[in-house]
Amino acid sequence: MSRIAFVNGRYVPHGQAVIHIEDRGYQFADGVYEVCEVREGHIVDERRHLERLSRSLGELRISPPMSPKALGFVLRETVRLNRVREGLLYLQVTRGVARREHAFPSAGTRPGLVVTARTRDRAKAETLAEAGIAVITLADNRWERVDIKTIALVPNVLARQAAREAGAGEAWFVDKEGFVTEGAASNAWIVTREGALVTRPAESGILRGITRTVVFEVAAASQLKVEERAFRVSEALEAREAFVTAATQIVMPVIKIDGTPVADGKPGAVSRALRARFHEAAEIGD
Ligand code: PDD
Repeated sequence: MSRIAFVNGRYVPHGQAVIHIEDRGYQFADGVYEVCEVREGHIVDERRHLERLSRSLGELRISPPMSPKALGFVLRETVRLNRVREGLLYLQVTRGVARREHAFPSAGTRPGLVVTARTRDRAKAETLAEAGIAVITLADNRWERVDIKTIALVPNVLARQAAREAGAGEAWFVDKEGFVTEGAASNAWIVTREGALVTRPAESGILRGITRTVVFEVAAASQLKVEERAFRVSEALEAREAFVTAATQIVMPVIKIDGTPVADGKPGAVSRALRARFHEAAEIGD
């Protein structure tokens, strides 16, 4: 089946989907993005993703490419045209096309918008979650505004590649004080010996993950205690469980950190239960 992408106002065959060489996303990584899960043909947590997109755009002073309502239509249409039942939706907004000059282009420059959707094998994802993933840790070398979901992801790319080369599924960034910030493309969590969930406050050093927000709700509904505080790698190694959250991974158990098993080295019961219950709390579109 041929894939279709939405590019600057048109639905085009994926292979012919192109943007201008002077798009500021291409030249300066001057743009923002979102990734949503698609489940049974529906976009998961669209409202929250569009709210975060709007915040990211505001922080970078990029104009919205269209109204939230129109954008919602384009997102659903892209899912439909690609016949995605289980998969991922990607959207990216850049400051548009202009002659290369660091400062903002003229006010009338239209933001660029790209939307793609692709199918993913849910059974494969579940098999991976049953096994869990290993993580490695690395010094956090990103800029301070990681709360903005920008497409400037080179440190994240290098971190994820380092993880892959080490046979791990994710890399955890660690700040100068030795506290874990987040993963290359996920938020980081542990479950203490007492059974409390611990994750870093979203006020500094991390992206406020939508999956993270929904997991707070699942935890509350499951009578689990959540402590929003930073934790060290040493505390994670003493923890009963560890896991990561992201739209692409939902709740993914972490079974090893820098080669050392977390507890018995198997996905923990709390992580598994949060994963199983996640979609009860998530908002699934119609
Ligand atoms: N990334 N932190 C970072 C650095 C991320 O890139 C992501 C997600 C998250 C989790 O956010 P959410 O729960 O809203 O997906 C946290 C996406 C999935 C990506 O870049 O592919």
